[in-house]
Amino acid sequence: MGFVSNLKIRANTLFEYILINHRWVIVVFFLLPLSFIYDIYYNTRSWLIFKLIRQIPMCTARPGWQTISFRVPAYKSTFNKIKINLVDILEIDTRKQTVRCEPLVTMGQLTKVLVDLGWTIPIVPEMDDLTVGGLVMGTGIETSSHKYGLFQHICTAFELVLADGSLITCNKDEHANLFYSVPWSYGTLGFLTAVEIKIMPAQRMISTFLSESRKESENDYVEGIMFTYNAGVVMTGNMCNSVEEGKLNEIGKWYKPWFFKHVESYLKAGRGVEYIPIRDYYHRHTRSIFWELQDIIPFGNNLLFRLLLGWLVPPKVSFLKRTQGQKVKELYENNHFIQDMLVPADQLKNALDVFEKEVKIYPMWLCPFKLPADPGMLRPLDGKCSLFVDIGTYGVPKVDNFHPVETTRRVEKFVRNAKGFQMLYADTYMTVHEFREMFNHTLYDKIRKELQCTKAFPEVYDKICRKARI
Ligand SMILES: *[C@@H]1O[C@H](CO)[C@@H](O)[C@H](O)[C@H]1NC(C)=O
Repeated sequence: MGFVSNLKIRANTLFEYILINHRWVIVVFFLLPLSFIYDIYYNTRSWLIFKLIRQIPMCTARPGWQTISFRVPAYKSTFNKIKINLVDILEIDTRKQTVRCEPLVTMGQLTKVLVDLGWTIPIVPEMDDLTVGGLVMGTGIETSSHKYGLFQHICTAFELVLADGSLITCNKDEHANLFYSVPWSYGTLGFLTAVEIKIMPAQRMISTFLSESRKESENDYVEGIMFTYNAGVVMTGNMCNSVEEGKLNEIGKWYKPWFFKHVESYLKAGRGVEYIPIRDYYHRHTRSIFWELQDIIPFGNNLLFRLLLGWLVPPKVSFLKRTQGQKVKELYENNHFIQDMLVPADQLKNALDVFEKEVKIYPMWLCPFKLPADPGMLRPLDGKCSLFVDIGTYGVPKVDNFHPVETTRRVEKFVRNAKGFQMLYADTYMTVHEFREMFNHTLYDKIRKELQCTKAFPEVYDKICRKARI
């Protein structure tokens, strides 16, 4: 090949020579026809697929082994598998009380996020790996289902991609027929892309309160205040000798906000630590008489009032009593509920339900205490030392059907059945029989006999019962 040797660009073969010096030959004779064929091939393929694949039913591409059911779904191998990788919690709306999440969100993932924020879903089917999509398309049940129904019944909306590719949102009002058809449809109506589920406040307050109450050696002081049926603050205290910079709070000073109002601010602020001088702590509820003063001086916690007259409060309870006329006294008795009920710790939740239903008075004071298994009037459950909680309700009932006698009697009945006790400084409306059911008189009767008290002194009941004092 002598004639190529004098070219500037060296080429080893004829093909390379043409490629370098006459590119058009390659383009025109090879690349253009190839592009044409390529286009025909792909257009034909996509046309064919469009025509044919529509005949093949679709299902999600989630592999069969990932499902919680023992059945290995055979249809997965023949159906047209669509990848749906929607794994996120999209939105928590605490005002509407709903959570919107994608179908692959699991129960474990959902409860973690919700409970951290103080919420939960009414039905949490057991097993962390159950997915929202599965529970909607299939179903789900839990021990709260006697109250809320099946998983589908706590769903308020579904978002689906239908067979024609359109996205649709359905709920009880919009596309209701579709909404009611989705549960148990096992993915045969469309692809689920999001579900809206009802949420409710988690009673984390109770478990936190009780677990802190049980840590005898860790916490020197434990107290809880409920501000609504669902929201409360648990406080734990420890004695110490030094103060962290900037965290001293002398809550006893006359110009400081009332203690329970200060505590309430933690509902918004969240967890916090502060250092309180010990006497300020001991008398934390004194200035506002727990929260009774807010009914007497509604503007008492106003900054101006605190600055000017804060050092004068609280008024002496004895003076308050002495200066109220018969009318005010009657008014108070008919519109006021002051009780401390002592219930076993495992009855706290039930007790809160009863108080919410019967009086709805907040704030509500929760003070844990240990009841040793000593003989005497107060007998703990099973004769074993147990944790109890004092539930203090002081104020004006916010329910419509409050009746001083009937309401108190219903609450007293609950407390008796719960094996709890009523503090006797307050009004009791129990009969002597009911009173003896609540308080164990075995030892009392024996001692009274031994000491010949029967004629010398009245019985407890005769001193404290409502009738005896009228
Ligand atoms: C009442 O107390 C006595 C002893 O103080 C005890 O033997 C008895 O079992 C108690 N009764 C109940 C119903 O707990």
